[in-house]
Amino acid sequence: MSSHPGWPAQLSAGAVLLRGPRLRDGRTWSEIRLRNEMWLLQWEPSSPHSWVERNSVTAWPPLLSALRKAGRTGTMLPFMILYGGRLVGQMNVSNVVHGVLRSCTVGYWVDRDVAGRGVVPTALALVIDHCFAQVGLHRIEVDIRPENTASLRVVEKLGLRREGYYERYLDIDGAWRDHVAFAVTVEELQGRTMLSRLPGVPQLP
Ligand SMILES: CC(C)(COP(=O)(O)OP(=O)(O)OC[C@H]1O[C@@H](n2cnc3c(N)ncnc32)[C@H](O)[C@@H]1OP(=O)(O)O)[C@@H](O)C(=O)NCCC(=O)NCCS
Repeated sequence: MSSHPGWPAQLSAGAVLLRGPRLRDGRTWSEIRLRNEMWLLQWEPSSPHSWVERNSVTAWPPLLSALRKAGRTGTMLPFMILYGGRLVGQMNVSNVVHGVLRSCTVGYWVDRDVAGRGVVPTALALVIDHCFAQVGLHRIEVDIRPENTASLRVVEKLGLRREGYYERYLDIDGAWRDHVAFAVTVEELQGRTMLSRLPGVPQLP
């Protein structure tokens, strides 16, 4: 077993594929992010830099290095989400802690053009199954702003357990925002996969 089990990795189900970030993702990543400012900004970490500065093509190489380094050192599993072979979003497994806690938090976004097709529930199910089976984690957490009804549906579809309400928890879109915490521990799956909790996985239209 490597010191950072479960990374690098490639996961797939139906038309959804997750893989690590690449240099050539930069152009598409930037195009989607710039086009989706109104869709994404309210759920993103606060920053002193403008949306354009943060998401231009030139912002990708330094971000890629940071993601790759975090993947190598085992603090993150930074996945790109592809749908039908096209890059459509990201799913970051962050705050990976081993030892007695063996936990992580997962964050995600997709292009508005592919929203509502079950891409993220499928990606999250794949990632949870991978974190339990290959990374050796025991608990996965997802923190969601109470206003984010679409994201609340994602964890509801997978049956994640509501754990609590964190006041002024994360610095998002210019302020400390309350979050609802959801989690699942490996025992709750009772030997089944998270993917099997979904009625189906997205295929191409
Ligand atoms: C939250 C998000 C990741 C969900 O991804 P997804 O792949 O669309 O997930 P689903 O297909 O399961 O859709 C979830 C809900 O989004 C809503 N939705 C569906 N299509 C939509 C659209 N075109 N526009 C807006 N909301 C839509 C529906 O309420 C849907 O629930 P339903 O299936 O019960 O109708 C996505 O909406 C997104 O990227 N939002 C912006 C970033 C964000 O909020 N990230 C999460 C921070 S915690």
